[in-house]
Parts: sequence; structure tokens; C-alpha cells
Amino acid sequence: MNSKSKFITTPVYYVNAKPHIGHLYTTIIADALARFYRQQGVPAFFLTGTDEHGIKVQRAAEKNAQSPLKHATVHAKHFQDLFEKFNLSHNRFIRTTDQDHIKSVQHFWKTLEQNGHIYSGVYKGWYAAQDECFYTEKEIVDGKAPTGADVELIEEKTHYFRLSQFQQPLLDFFKKNPLFVQPKERFNEVISFVEQGLEDLSISRASVTWGIPTPSDPALTIYVWIDALCNYITALGYPDTNSEHFLTYWPESVHIIGKDILRFHAIFWPAFLMAAKLPLPQSVVAHGWWINRGKKMSKSLGNIIDPNELFDKFGPEPTRYFLLREAPFNSDGYFSEEALIKRTTADLSNDLGNLILRTTSMFVRYKAHLLSATYDKNIINNTYSLKDDLTKHMTSYQITRFCEKLWSLIADCNRYVDHTKPWQLFKEKNFEKLTNALFTTLEMIRCIALYITPILPDTSDKILNALDIKQSERSWLCLRHESAINSDNRIVSCGVLFPKEL
Ligand code: ME8
Ligand code: MG
Repeated sequence: MNSKSKFITTPVYYVNAKPHIGHLYTTIIADALARFYRQQGVPAFFLTGTDEHGIKVQRAAEKNAQSPLKHATVHAKHFQDLFEKFNLSHNRFIRTTDQDHIKSVQHFWKTLEQNGHIYSGVYKGWYAAQDECFYTEKEIVDGKAPTGADVELIEEKTHYFRLSQFQQPLLDFFKKNPLFVQPKERFNEVISFVEQGLEDLSISRASVTWGIPTPSDPALTIYVWIDALCNYITALGYPDTNSEHFLTYWPESVHIIGKDILRFHAIFWPAFLMAAKLPLPQSVVAHGWWINRGKKMSKSLGNIIDPNELFDKFGPEPTRYFLLREAPFNSDGYFSEEALIKRTTADLSNDLGNLILRTTSMFVRYKAHLLSATYDKNIINNTYSLKDDLTKHMTSYQITRFCEKLWSLIADCNRYVDHTKPWQLFKEKNFEKLTNALFTTLEMIRCIALYITPILPDTSDKILNALDIKQSERSWLCLRHESAINSDNRIVSCGVLFPKEL
């Protein structure tokens, strides 16, 4: 691991409605990554928050007969409460109505203006409030946006950003940075979109009042996407780009998003940053969609799954595990409670839960007869070296493969117990072999618990507590013989981690 630090972000979510599992999913992915890096001793700053300006939120507030800020505050709280409930480890929850953000956006705008990238004009064309996106005539299909959103024809005074001038600089940048967008299927889409040519982009709205005023003409508000994207630099202290915080984290930034907002992050945002003469983020990582009843789960389609219900019914860790395990980033995920139950019963209750329960209880039962700890060195060395593959999968955003690999270790460990039969060794009074079998298993379990932290942080803690592993010994740097579990650890039975009736 050679990164010095990491900046992991999620989108800022619209506060037009309550969060669903799609929002929770992205935020859990970011949490898993942040925990993974921290566990390697790499400081990780994890940012999430809410996108509160624009016509979409303005209309949602009107519908509720509330002021936009009051409405936004109520809805931001739903996101905050949800992320707290799921024990997510973000360092800041940013709201685009925060004062430091408003200053940051206005400064960013002025910089684009000073650098000659903004001019005044009139926008006449299509706008989809649901996507907060302008669409060209050729993108409209059967009177709708390509996303299926309703569009309205608008004609108003605006400011334009000279996006067309960034076509070549973007293509050059993409060529030099083959991992800028991941997975590669998404990068190909981005490249072909840019190759088709870019039109200048309208970046202010005369008819939208709920937004940050443009510094040059306060009657217009800044396009909500510029506002929203700037959250990533606000959180690092922009406009102070010389602070230690900014200099440490910005070059190591990774934006985790859903594929719905790829264009904004992989094309507009890099162009804005180039125009502001700021470095570009390291990567934009786009995952697929959760599908329910055949359609992308969405607040506007009304086919959402409420994560609070999953919390009550299945608990936070089984829900988290299912979301992380089910779909690789280059494909969509099909949500059903049956699939969740099937997956978590097999992997959590049976494979992991049983392993931990039976081995810690055997230890407690037989401990009076154990000699000083010995291990099957080969097995333990193989267990330590799994770290390389796991690191490769996590740092290439293949969390499903990370889980597959880890669960194959869990299966190996179960097989080792079945094969060595400690209960029989005990009956035979073969205490030397019994000691070796149990300590080998417990050391494998210690590694499993360390490996599992990004995926199941609470479960990992429970196992490490039962194994009497000190807080300071819970890093992946402790995957070595010197830190191996031994006769000094006061191991207790771990109890049932995942009740069967999931
Ligand atoms: O787009 N499956 O906010 P948003 C998976 N405010 N992930 C999903 C999902 C689904 N069915 N539905 C939503 C916005 N998401 C802007 C972002 S960022 C500068 C501004 C997740 O509330 C996924 O991360 O519509 C998606 O990109 C995001 O929520 C969109 O949230
Ligand atoms: Mg959306």
C-alpha cells in the first residue's frame, strides 16, 4: 500500500424525498473503502452529504408548503439519521446550504469568470427538473429525456461555460489517465460522448430562485450542478488550496457515484476544474443501479425500498453485506428480500457465524487441556498472504471479488475444522494435536476478522473482542506471526453472530 492518504466521496443527495437503498448503497461502498484504507494505516477522509438547491428541491418544498430551507433541513436529517443508524464513518456530512460551501461556490464561479470561461447569453431549449439537466433536441426521445424524465421548454437569460473548448484537453487527459473512470465500460461511454463533440453549457438559471446567486448578476442563480460538484473541494477548505488538508487529500480523491451521474462527474467536473486551474480528481468510480420491479429504483418512480425497514427486519450488517456482495460495479443489482435472505443465511449465519461459534466454544471447552500455542505454519502463511489479493480487489473497486475471496478462506477454515476434528482429538487425549488444530483455527479466524472489517465492521469488532485482540492490534499491519493469537489471549465464546431466523 503506497498511498499516503485517501479522499473518498459520495454524491450529495437531493433532498426532494427520503433516502432509499440506492443512496445507502453508495455511502456504504465509500464507508467500506474508507475503513479499508484506515485499517492499512492510510488516513482516509470520507465525505457525504446533501444537495439542497435547485428547481427540483424548490418544487418539492412548494408541494409541502414549506420554505425550501426548512424542507431541506428536515430531509437532510433523514439522510443523517440513516447513515448514523448504519454506523457509517464519514468525517463530514456536508449540506450545500452550509455557509462555507456558498462562499466556495461563489469563489469558484468568479475564478471561472476571471479565467475567461464564462459568457452571457440566452438559453432556449429543454430542461428536465428531475435530472437537473439540460438536454439537446437530438437527445429527446418521444417527448422525454433519455432518462425518461419529463422535460420542459425554457427560454431565459443565462451564463454559458465554454465547455466546447475542453473537448481536446479532456480527451488528452483521458488518454494519460486510463484509470480515471472505472469500471472501463463506463470510461468507454465517457470517451465516446466527448469524441462526439461538446456544446457550451448553460450554468445559471434566471427562473430558479432557490440557489446561490451568481456574483456578477444576483438575479440569476448558479446552476445546481456546479454548486453540487463544488462540495468536494469545499470540504477540503477551498478556496484555500494551499492548506495542508487540501494538499494532502485532493490529489488522492476518489468520487464514488452511480452511473446515472457519470457525465457530470467525468466530463463537466474535470472541465470546470481545468478551467479553474485546479488538479483533477484521481478517479471517478461508477456503480450500477438497484432495480426493483424491473425498473431503476427511484424516488420519482415510487418503487423504492426503505432502508429503515431492512434495518428493522434484517439488521444493519446483513443488509450491508447483501448490498456489497450482490452486484459488481459494472452490472445492476436486482433487489429482493428472498435474495437477501438466501445470501445472508448461507454466508453469514452458516459459513461465518457457525465457524466463529463452534471454534470459540471449543476453545473454551478444551482450554484447560491446551499446551502452549503451536500452528500449522503453511496454512497460516497462506492466510497472511491472501492480503495481497484482497488489497488488489479492493483498490480496483471489485468488492464482490473481495468478498468471494474472503469467503473462500472462511470455507477453507471450516474444512480445516471438519478435517482435524478437535472433538475427536480431545476424546483421544491427543492434546498436542488438539492445541495445534485450535490455535491454527483461531489464528485464521483472527485474520478473517481483520479482513472482514471493511465489509462487516461490527461483526469484526465482536469477533476481535471475543479473541481478546487489543484495539491497537486491529490493523492489517498485524497480519504477521509476531501478532499471532497465543495462550495469553483470554478468549471467550463469541455467541451467535447472526440468528438463523434472518
Ligand atoms: O444525482 N441504484 O442526487 P440523487 C443505485 N444531487 N444507486 C442509486 C440509485 C439506484 N437505483 N438511485 C440513487 C443526485 N442512487 C445529485 C448528485 S453530486 C455532486 C450531486 C445513488 O439524490 C447513486 O449514487 O439523485 C446515484 O448516483 C445517486 O444516488 C443519485 O442521488
Ligand atoms: Mg437522481
